[in-house]
Amino acid sequence: MTGPLVLETQGLTKSFPGVHALKGVDFRLFAGEVHTLMGQNGAGKSTLINVLTGVHAHDAGEIRVDGRPVRFAAPLEAEAAGIRTLYQEVNLCPNLSVAENIFAGRQPRRRGAIDWKAIHAGARDALAQLNLSLDVTQSLDTYPIAVQQMVAIARAVSVEARVLILDEPTSSLDDSEVAKLFEVLRNLKDSGIAILFVTHFLEQTYAISDRITVMRNGEREGEYLAKDLPVDELVHKMVGNVPVAGERSTTSKAQSDAAAASPGASRFDMRGVGRRGAVQPLDLTLEPGRIVGLAGLLGSGRTETARLLFGADRADTGTITVNDKPIKLGSPRHAVRHGIAYCPEDRKKEGIVGALSVRENIVLALQARRGWWRPLGRAKEKRIAEHYVKALGIRTRDIEQPIELLSGGNQQKALLARWLAIDPKMLILDEPTRGIDVAAKFEIMERVSKLCEKGLGILLISSEIAEVLRVSDRIAVLRDRRKVAELSGTDLDEHAVYRLIAGGGA
Ligand SMILES: Nc1ncnc2c1ncn2[C@@H]1O[C@H](COP(=O)(O)OP(=O)(O)OP(=O)(O)O)[C@@H](O)[C@H]1O
Ligand SMILES: [Mg+2]
Repeated sequence: MTGPLVLETQGLTKSFPGVHALKGVDFRLFAGEVHTLMGQNGAGKSTLINVLTGVHAHDAGEIRVDGRPVRFAAPLEAEAAGIRTLYQEVNLCPNLSVAENIFAGRQPRRRGAIDWKAIHAGARDALAQLNLSLDVTQSLDTYPIAVQQMVAIARAVSVEARVLILDEPTSSLDDSEVAKLFEVLRNLKDSGIAILFVTHFLEQTYAISDRITVMRNGEREGEYLAKDLPVDELVHKMVGNVPVAGERSTTSKAQSDAAAASPGASRFDMRGVGRRGAVQPLDLTLEPGRIVGLAGLLGSGRTETARLLFGADRADTGTITVNDKPIKLGSPRHAVRHGIAYCPEDRKKEGIVGALSVRENIVLALQARRGWWRPLGRAKEKRIAEHYVKALGIRTRDIEQPIELLSGGNQQKALLARWLAIDPKMLILDEPTRGIDVAAKFEIMERVSKLCEKGLGILLISSEIAEVLRVSDRIAVLRDRRKVAELSGTDLDEHAVYRLIAGGGA
């Protein structure tokens, strides 16, 4: 049930040097509703949130809470007013414990001392709301990224708030974790909390939203009730008058055998490759011109398999051959030399270097492979960076902009560009479309398929089973850190994959 208007903006305007990020945005948030912000990468969603919560000051316009004008000078002031926010880039402290992260800045005290017992119990309760039971005394970085994200969510929902803001909280969660989160959100909403949600997943938008505001190019395109806005109209409103690439058919599966024969193409064979505690010995073949999907739940061993192939972790059994010649396992540098590229899922930790420019980030892997004593030269770097900025539609003022100033989805595209720039023979894509808007998603997969036709082999990891099915020639299913099946041709069927993932027979 929609309650009173809690938070409202009028004519909100914000510029960064060279970017007009918000252009007179009107926005309303009601108690007892989930209101989803949608829009392409760089449309201004996170900026709106950052201005609402005092991360950035706005240039013009007004923010009102309960009808009274406010201007928060810092996020803590917004928190004090009952506005809790989970920002897009998770700002937790990896080396503090799970419990410390949940209570950072508001530790319960007893007689002046920090009350650890209360902290640990409180953290366990907060996680229990999300059906999660963790050892809360362990440091956060001992857990995989999806669990870290759940901890961030637990932190955000663990205090009584009037407004809860979540900027892409589900990008690394699997279906069951999303379901748990939504259950919690529905309960909060029923208790009268106003929820502002950002996602690029259309299904999630319709599963949870009462109201949708579409942003385009820093402007509010419109506000709709979710039940009155069909999905194709929503997409249309997000992208404007551009035809949506997704309507085209993907070229993948129609791989040509010519690809396999193209000069420089390589076949990679993993035989009995495994690592204790990470993944049981498994066989996997990656051929030129083919996309192999890795399906499985979080923690099933997908990323671990990719890391073994890339040498980011050392395998303790098995061999890898390239065109039947064994290669040494064990370091990313060797892998890159053999033409293996790995676009990782955690762009913060293993990916972008925030303070470097877009240009420097894009040429990083290429430069590393050449060796730092043989610089590419500024002109060449510029050419490469500009090429990919255009090809992937990376929204940046210019290529000299520090990459940390780009929107989340655009940083992700730059990371992909880095690996495409080395012209790999085999590309491992781990959640490549994390945080990327619907239109760009199709563009990117289309582009990847084209590369595949030219002889590139691809290993694709994605939690979106539909996406994996749509583009893959073969799918290897992992469960409990073990490869349990490999499907191809007519066996590639959604139900079969789900059954295998969940533990049933094929
Ligand atoms: N601190 C900053 N300095 C300079 N420019 C910025 C800054 N923060 C955001 N921008 C720019 O403002 C625009 C809007 O970015 P914003 O992060 O709000 O997009 P978004 O809609 O959240 O996109 P995404 O879906 O990729 O997260 C982008 O062009 C971005 O590069
Ligand atoms: Mg954003």
